[in-house]
Amino acid sequence: MGATLDPVRRRRYLEAMGIQVWQRRAGSAAGEGDEVARAAVQAADAPLPGAEASVALSVVPADSPAPTDAMAALGWEDLRAAVAACRACGLCETRTQTVFGVGRHDADLMLIGEAPGAEEDRRGEPFVGRAGQLLDRMLAAIGLSRDQVYIANILKCRPPGNRDPKPEEAAACRAFLLRQIALVQPRVLVSLGRISAQNLLETDEAVGRLRGRWLSFGPRALPLMVTYHPSYLLRSPEQKARAWQDLIQVARRLRGG
Ligand code: URA
Repeated sequence: MGATLDPVRRRRYLEAMGIQVWQRRAGSAAGEGDEVARAAVQAADAPLPGAEASVALSVVPADSPAPTDAMAALGWEDLRAAVAACRACGLCETRTQTVFGVGRHDADLMLIGEAPGAEEDRRGEPFVGRAGQLLDRMLAAIGLSRDQVYIANILKCRPPGNRDPKPEEAAACRAFLLRQIALVQPRVLVSLGRISAQNLLETDEAVGRLRGRWLSFGPRALPLMVTYHPSYLLRSPEQKARAWQDLIQVARRLRGG
């Protein structure tokens, strides 16, 4: 049987996500305005997927570059130093500083975004701007704080003007991220947005087709959930209900052991 969330907690989660909840009067028909909350509530009520059903698609990029031997030997301090000293692509010319990653080194949940923006470049920490504030609320919605998870990006340096990362920039940074994942050994990975998902999975598939189901990442087949990027959710709040469905699955997987 699937686990269900009690209605009070569910409502608190939805409100923390900024999803409006309409209460239907007893006996009244569902109005159109119920749609968003209803979608989310249905997700919250959905049965906990069994292990075999939960991996709907296994994506293990065949040519995923393994961290080099040298990289595989690096501990946290040396890895951070290697990132800070990196000059492997042109972004080193325009960055204020590298943005390594933040959070628990032994987190169960690791979230992977795209690249630092202006605020992150200034402060040296991922997701500290407006998108980061929404990410904090998304985490709070599943009972987690930023210091209980690990957060990193595909790129460690800000692309000027927040343009999309170039493939060669993402490729140059990939070994750093793979080493971070290897060090954290999370139980669950969450990929935030198109750039993150497409680079991690080495695919051109749209986020809308990747999100919402369990994929697996890398040779260790880490459970990976793709969801919308908080910046996109700020621009398209009507998609928050879908992001909430994704987060519910993540919370269940983390709870399920
Ligand atoms: N967006 C990202 O993908 N990463 C950040 O660190 C900030 C905004």
